Amino acid sequence: MDKRPLQLHKKQLEFVLSNNRFTSFIGGIGSGKSHAGCAKAGLASGGIIGGQQVIPVPNLGVITAPTYANVRDVTLRTFQEMFAPAIRKFHKAEMRAEMINGSEILFRSVENYEVLRGINVSWWFGDEAALYHEDVWKIMIGRLRQFGRSGYAWLTTTPKGRNWLWREFVAKQRDAYRMIKARTTQNPYLDRDYVESLIEAYSGDFAAQELDGDFISFEGLIYPEFDYGTHVFQEMPERRRFKRVVAGVDWGFVNPGVVLVVGVDGDDNLWVLHEEYARKRRIEEWTAVAADLHQTYKISEFFCDPSDPDNIKHFKQAGLNAKQANNSVLAGIQRVRQQLVVRENGRPGLNFRNGSPNLIAEFSEYQWASNRDGLRDEPRKAQDHAMDALRYAVVGALGMTGVQRGGIGASTGSYIG
Ligand SMILES: Nc1ncnc2c1ncn2[C@@H]1O[C@H](COP(=O)(O)OP(=O)(O)OP(=O)(O)O)[C@@H](O)[C@H]1O
Ligand SMILES: [Mg+2]
Repeated sequence: MDKRPLQLHKKQLEFVLSNNRFTSFIGGIGSGKSHAGCAKAGLASGGIIGGQQVIPVPNLGVITAPTYANVRDVTLRTFQEMFAPAIRKFHKAEMRAEMINGSEILFRSVENYEVLRGINVSWWFGDEAALYHEDVWKIMIGRLRQFGRSGYAWLTTTPKGRNWLWREFVAKQRDAYRMIKARTTQNPYLDRDYVESLIEAYSGDFAAQELDGDFISFEGLIYPEFDYGTHVFQEMPERRRFKRVVAGVDWGFVNPGVVLVVGVDGDDNLWVLHEEYARKRRIEEWTAVAADLHQTYKISEFFCDPSDPDNIKHFKQAGLNAKQANNSVLAGIQRVRQQLVVRENGRPGLNFRNGSPNLIAEFSEYQWASNRDGLRDEPRKAQDHAMDALRYAVVGALGMTGVQRGGIGASTGSYIG
């Protein structure tokens, strides 16, 4: 294995030295989660857990992230930077690293998580785990049985409300489980300006969650009808099913920017096919991303956050059909709620691909703000980035008026831009 000493901050070291069967590193944005998880993975491929040789070598491990793009651009890259000298070969088509000691590591997205049932590994590292479906956890802990021994799992993530992860690592107190928490400010390797900009961007509950890594339970949700089992699909529908494809765009830099690609089928049911969700991307990069998405999906219209006409101009100059989205917030929310209703055919009018993890997570955080009189008449301006992009796309695709009763074909979309 790599003989360079691993340099870790205090919380990362505690995590890497933990010898529990199930360990989680729960931290704020940039607290060093991916780095810590990869450190543990590199050591595990050398047979080491918690500083001791406990797994046979060579062994097989798996590293997962919410989407394929996430695995490739973040987790794999972090691992390669840290362990380059210990990797003999990386097989790109299979997303498999072959280590010098003969161990192997698979890099997988959890978009189609059912396929993970087919593997047997000694260890599993799940990055950004709060964005996974609970079934991923259930499936994966059943896969830890290479050599007929039970293996090890560790997760790293910023919390997203009190979901399954909270139940597993906080609510049920069990000996095999250990949680290590870290705040964004506890990572000394983080750029100071970046930390300052994050501190400025978050307050209240959201600062507690996003910067301190606390599990917050969010109340007064705007879309209480959203349900993972009902609204999320795994398999990509056939393209010819869609009469057109549109996109909703929310601009951001310190806050994430978002592009959602949405297919409209013959019954005016909407299918969110792709989520782009990233911080620190400039308009030039967003334009390139949007042009790529247009290549893939033939997007007829981009409905964009109207607050930044210059950005819209940028899209137009690249030949994209970009328009100002209708930004009537309450009416738009009402329109989205109508689409969430399950139709006579048993499917809702709005469906989300499992590869849209941030969008799905925002459903459990998007809340009404209480005004001075205690009235809840506008959304809190936090964790609303994918929610805004979704509203732009839905209203753009179907118009503001629409289904009242939720029957198939009852939509009278007026196709306003
Ligand atoms: N032990 C370390 N030594 C050197 N640099 C580190 C270390 N840990 C983290 N970093 C650096 O700090 C930054 C954030 O680390 P990392 O990406 O692991 O954090 P994260 O919590 O996964 O962030 P995000 O919330 O964006 O997923 C990166 O630039 C990373 O290279
Ligand atoms: Mg990370």
